[in-house]
Amino acid sequence: MDAAAAPATPAPLVLVRKLTMAFGEKVVQRDLSFEVRPGEILVLMGGSGCGKSTLLRHLIGLQTPAAGEIHYGDVDLATASEDQLDDIRRRFGVMFQAGALWSSMTVGENVMLPLREYTDLNETQIETLARFKLALVGLDGAFDASPAALSGGMKKRAAIARAMALDAPLLYLDEPSAGLDPLTSARLDELILSLRDHLGTTIVMVTHELDSIFAVADRALFLDAKEKTMTALDAPRALLAHGPEPVRQFLRRGNRP
Ligand SMILES: Nc1ncnc2c1ncn2[C@@H]1O[C@H](COP(=O)(O)OP(=O)(O)O)[C@@H](O)[C@H]1O
Ligand SMILES: [Mg+2]
Repeated sequence: MDAAAAPATPAPLVLVRKLTMAFGEKVVQRDLSFEVRPGEILVLMGGSGCGKSTLLRHLIGLQTPAAGEIHYGDVDLATASEDQLDDIRRRFGVMFQAGALWSSMTVGENVMLPLREYTDLNETQIETLARFKLALVGLDGAFDASPAALSGGMKKRAAIARAMALDAPLLYLDEPSAGLDPLTSARLDELILSLRDHLGTTIVMVTHELDSIFAVADRALFLDAKEKTMTALDAPRALLAHGPEPVRQFLRRGNRP
């Protein structure tokens, strides 16, 4: 073998090893081990309260593991220096479950905020980029609008544009389609697929909505609320066909949490 040959599988963007998450004495999930692969859409799924949002907070370094490790490349979040953390934070964008835009700012100002905060670009460049991001999510005309004037689906799109402002190769989305009607939700799924297909963005998305899971997920990780650990990680159709029974039930039972 040529030592310089490219490895068969590209290095994971994020590596999670034996992660236990807890609030004080209360363990939410234990022994989670998985990786986020470049270019994939990985769905984190499971019933309400199983720990999906908590896992997302751990992945972005907002919450410290009770045990286990989270690696970005060869850097362990727990022992990373401030400089390393800064560097890691620039590699991902986040849309939280509440996903709220700042209501005191226009939509455009919301998207420009991370660019102001994290880049040395001038005002003209910042505005150009923000308009471009809004165009990418189909909101060309909304730059000067107030968030309150947008529909639910448009707000989510704008929040995704803000999460993408810094061109991060990795996007974390927490229940992006929650509260949207099925048609708007399907459009959002298309947007998420096109970000991956056209920009090569890797996406880790929390959802319990079946339509979304089957429409976008390359792989889905199931957090079992009762077992308090992950009981499956595979393509949704494979899980539906031969996953553990509780996972098959979850995937069959309709869009209820
Ligand atoms: N700040 C907190 N303090 C204590 N418990 C919390 C906190 N946030 C969430 N939890 C608990 O952790 C569990 C997982 O919550 P969460 O990650 O929000 O679930 P999901 O996103 O899957 O619905 C729930 O039992 C929830 O009540
Ligand atoms: Mg949640």
